[in-house]
Amino acid sequence: MAQNWTPGSWRQKPIQQVPEYPDAAALAATEATLATYPPLVFAGEARRLKKQLANVAEGNAFLLQGGDCAESFAEHGADNIRDFFRAFLQMAVVLTYGAQLPVVKVGRIAGQFAKPRSSNVEVLDGVTLPSYRGDIINGIEFNEASRIPNPERQLDAYRQSAATLNLLRAFAMGGYANLENVHQWMLGFIKDSPQADRYRKLADRISETMDFMKAIGISADNNPSLRETDFFTSHEALLLGYEEALTRVDSTSGDWYATSGHMLWIGDRTRQLDHAHVEYFRGIKNPIGLKCGPSLTPDNLIELIDALNPANEAGRLTLICRFGHDKVADSLPKLIRAVEKEGRKVVWSCDPMHGNTITLNHYKTRPFERILSEVESFFQIHRAEGTHPGGIHIEMTGKDVTECTGGARAVTADSLSDRYHTHCDPRLNADQALELAFLLSERMKSGRDEKRLAIANA
Ligand code: TRP
Ligand code: MN
Repeated sequence: MAQNWTPGSWRQKPIQQVPEYPDAAALAATEATLATYPPLVFAGEARRLKKQLANVAEGNAFLLQGGDCAESFAEHGADNIRDFFRAFLQMAVVLTYGAQLPVVKVGRIAGQFAKPRSSNVEVLDGVTLPSYRGDIINGIEFNEASRIPNPERQLDAYRQSAATLNLLRAFAMGGYANLENVHQWMLGFIKDSPQADRYRKLADRISETMDFMKAIGISADNNPSLRETDFFTSHEALLLGYEEALTRVDSTSGDWYATSGHMLWIGDRTRQLDHAHVEYFRGIKNPIGLKCGPSLTPDNLIELIDALNPANEAGRLTLICRFGHDKVADSLPKLIRAVEKEGRKVVWSCDPMHGNTITLNHYKTRPFERILSEVESFFQIHRAEGTHPGGIHIEMTGKDVTECTGGARAVTADSLSDRYHTHCDPRLNADQALELAFLLSERMKSGRDEKRLAIANA
């Protein structure tokens, strides 16, 4: 199987979740155009992320991955990107402080446009139309014209990704992410937020430390690691024609890289061993993710690891577990044991969103307490197995939306309709995201204290 891979060899395999483009020639023409466009990311950056993830696999760092369920063409304003990035940085600071470990920062952004669907059609008031599959494929509006897959959308998605990435790079490297701004990131915060106080206290401690360091000669001016941060992009690589067009040989190593984002993942619905998505992923050298749901058996998982990471390279593969608060205790331990028994190097990450979706008042939602519960279980299970709970993968926004119920400033079933803006799944709002970060930071802090105690008592 290791031979004969090409960026297009997936086309010989069975495939799930393909849109039906009415005009094959137009699709081919668009893909040919995309193939002439510049890469969005650079192979050296993907390698840098892989190295940081190897550090996570070894237990010496924590992965924070998050962003929209689906990006949209309609919401492509600078404010949106800034608000997301600000909330993300706040989480990162809280986690870094709690874990006393580096936090690897990966957004679900600048390419997260294609959505797998459980049904090919959507029925509304007796009318049946093709399902919405993400802005890179068709339109969300419920009419026939908008639901026809249109290849031109791939060019728009490419351009939006480029513009988003450009702004994110500027934020990450150009001063916005400077730790001296740790207080400013709170300015957008809602006045009555219960997290604001907590965050302010932490920001005070960081500022005080920075002042002390400045006094002894270490400042953001002479120390780039205080004023810059590595921020990487990721998305589900569902639309393989688009991915193929952006798959390029890296001239320094001769290897193939996906250049649509730094890290790509395989969805839970498209991870069949002998199918197209696994075929595509095995040939690219980027760090990759694999979504693991309740139907994944330990044997399946080991076969997939064999196919996707035959060299057992740390940092190559992140297992993004999305079982549900009531299934994680049943599903996760057996996968961990199989991976440990076979000595495979992976990053274990917890996606507490996708297994906890319910419908309330006709809204798809996720109760915050179930999200917290899955995260808690994930940490407990890893502690019991002696493995590293390496990261978290969440759907979030920097805005004050009402999509998930609960949280300290409780969103109720009746308030879901107030600001329900998602194009797909319900996201944590900025408050809920920060609350989750504080909870995680407490878990990691107590994990550290336990380790210290164990060493002291040994
Ligand atoms: N460069 C370090 C890091 O990325 C410290 C840092 C700078 C940082 N700006 C940050 C950490 C913003 C969290 C958030 O970890
Ligand atoms: Mn989703």
